[in-house]
This record gives sequence, structure tokens and C-alpha cells, in this order.
Amino acid sequence: MKAVKLYKSCEAKDIKIEEVEIPKAKENWVVVKVMAFGMNHSEALFRKFEIDNDYFEKPRVPGIECVGIIEESLDNNFKKGDKVIALMGGMGRSFDGSYQEYALLPIKNVFKVNNTNLDWIHLGAIPETYFTAYGSLFQSLQLKENNSLLVRGGTSALGISSIIMAKNLGCRVIATTTDENKIDYLQYLGVDKVIVDKNNFKEQMNEKVDKILELVGARTLLESMNFLNEGGICCHTGLLGGVFELNHFDPIKDIPNGTYLTGFYSNYPTQNIIDEMIDFINTYSIQPELGNVYSFDDIIKASEDLEFGRTNGKAVVVVDEELKKTL
Ligand SMILES: NC(=O)c1ccc[n+]([C@@H]2O[C@H](COP(=O)([O-])OP(=O)(O)OC[C@H]3O[C@@H](n4cnc5c(N)ncnc54)[C@H](OP(=O)(O)O)[C@@H]3O)[C@@H](O)[C@H]2O)c1
Repeated sequence: MKAVKLYKSCEAKDIKIEEVEIPKAKENWVVVKVMAFGMNHSEALFRKFEIDNDYFEKPRVPGIECVGIIEESLDNNFKKGDKVIALMGGMGRSFDGSYQEYALLPIKNVFKVNNTNLDWIHLGAIPETYFTAYGSLFQSLQLKENNSLLVRGGTSALGISSIIMAKNLGCRVIATTTDENKIDYLQYLGVDKVIVDKNNFKEQMNEKVDKILELVGARTLLESMNFLNEGGICCHTGLLGGVFELNHFDPIKDIPNGTYLTGFYSNYPTQNIIDEMIDFINTYSIQPELGNVYSFDDIIKASEDLEFGRTNGKAVVVVDEELKKTL
């Protein structure tokens, strides 16, 4: 089978696909035939920098998520042919991930999705992005149909999926972009008010909301919190602004009275939440928005586009030979 193996940090152009043995199932680990996988920024960071840390075993197959079919299982809960998604929990970092035709994955990170109607490519856009969006909206923000929601960083893959789910629920949605050219797209998604987030966010915002999904992150978080209604919640999920920590954070003064600050970390998916999420997607017939779709043979181009922000939304890489013929 084909696999990408990283031996040390490298540029995208140096990525190689190797021929390796198909892994065998073992206790608590199943073999998944990878049909497709979504790409994530953390994979570019892992390849370029993090992999050199001594605590990562090498070589390592990267990729923190995939969709596919159970190929081999010793576990009664999974049988050959089950449709599954897999994500996080160390995938593509502490153990080999999705950039390969067959992946040996721990059962705690593999979830059955036999009831999805999505085709493989659209399903490929779901695991990490929709799980994070769903968890942020419903576990952390406790979003309800009559809520107003601000999505700061609305055109990110995470922002788009959150907007789609919130609009399907019936929420009023305000979303930001730093690019005037994306106003039409956000309106096409159903956004009620688009803010071009450059210098005068405050003047354009001009109203309070019940919930805020903060994807730009620490750079704008405290400013955003001033626009929460009393009882409102802000969820810090993204770091698009490139600032990773709040320095000199003073909770007494920085969290407005009667408002709440929470976060969401996608590292702990469970079958229950994945079931709920797939039910939600089915109930509203949600079709995820796709960015560029690549063949596994074009993994270098896909990795370059990911690194330089050229994937036009959620990038999906098709691994299965038959599915590749449909591209
Ligand atoms: N908490 C978790 O567990 C978790 C899980 C997954 C992802 N994340 C984080 O969530 C964020 C979104 O991820 P994604 O993969 O959905 O992102 P993405 O699709 O790559 O987002 C790209 C968009 O982000 C916006 N952007 C880029 N730089 C920006 C800046 N300096 N300020 C404001 N906006 C900027 C741009 O939109 P415009 O051109 O429209 O401004 C760009 O088109 C990332 O920070 C990611 O690390 C967190």
C-alpha cells in the first residue's frame, strides 16, 4: 500500500509516497481502509517543525482525521465494511495517521457513521471540522434556535460549518471576514450581517449577541466579549489571529459581568457526540462546503496549498483508487 512517511521536518516539496506493508489489526486497534481525508493546519506545523521533537516516534505517517471502511477488526463492536470516521487523540502524531491507504487506528478514535447519506468526498470534510464546530456550538455555547451568534473568523472552514449549522437551526448570525471579496459568499451561506473586520469592528458590530464563536482568538477575544448580552457565552476555539495566549488576563475586569467564557478542544471525540452530530447533519440535510479536492498522488500540491492558504476552504484528499477516477 501507499503511505507518506515523515522522517524529519521537511518542506512540502520533499514529501514522498512510499510502498509499505498493510498493517494488521491488534487488540483495541482496527485497520481502516482510508477513502479520503481532510487536511488541517496542524499537519503543516507538524511536518515543518514539531516532528523534530524527541517525543515523536519516527518515521511517522501524518494526518489527524480520515473517513473510510473497517478492513480488519478483532473487536466485536466493529465489523469489516463498517463506514467510519476517525480523528484526533494523537492520530498522525503519537501514532500513524491518515496519509496512507490503510491505517491502524485505536478503537477509541474510530467512530461508526453507517447512517450517513453523504458521499465519501463530502464526508471527508466532516470529522475534525464539523466535530469542532458542533462541539463549540452545542457543548460549549449551548446554542439554541432563538439565539443570535457572532462568528469571528466566519470564512474559515470551521466558521463556514458553524454558520451552516447555526442558520439551519434558525439563529441570527453575524460573521466577520478580513476580505471584502468574501462578503457575497457569507451572504450566500445565509449570514444576516457581514462585518469586514479590519479597523472598525466596534462601529460595525453595533449590537449585542447571545453567543460568540471566537475563531480569530486571543487577538480579538476581549474585544468580542464586550458584545455579549447578559447571560451570553463566548467560546474560544480558534487562533487565526496568530496570538496564542492572553497576556495579563484579568478575569475580574476582562469578563463583563454576567457573561461567560469557555473553550473547545477537539481532542476528545466520543461515539455519542459523533452520533448526535451525524443526526443533526441528516436532519437538516447538510451538505458541507468543500474547498479544493486533491488526489493522494498530488499530496505535495495539497500540502503546499494548505501551508500557503490556497485550499479555498476545507481541503479533502481522495485516497481510494476507484474514487480517484471520479475526480
Ligand atoms: N480548538 C480546537 O480544537 C480546534 C480544532 C480545529 C481548528 N482549530 C483552529 O480553528 C481555526 C480555524 O481553523 P480552519 O482550519 O477552519 O481555518 P481556515 O479554513 O484555514 O481559515 C482560513 C481563513 O482564516 C482567516 N484568517 C487568516 N488569517 C487571519 C487573521 N490574521 N485574522 C483573521 N482572520 C484570518 C481568513 O479569512 P478572511 O480572508 O475571510 O479573513 C482565511 O481565509 C484555526 O485557528 C485552527 O487552528 C481549533
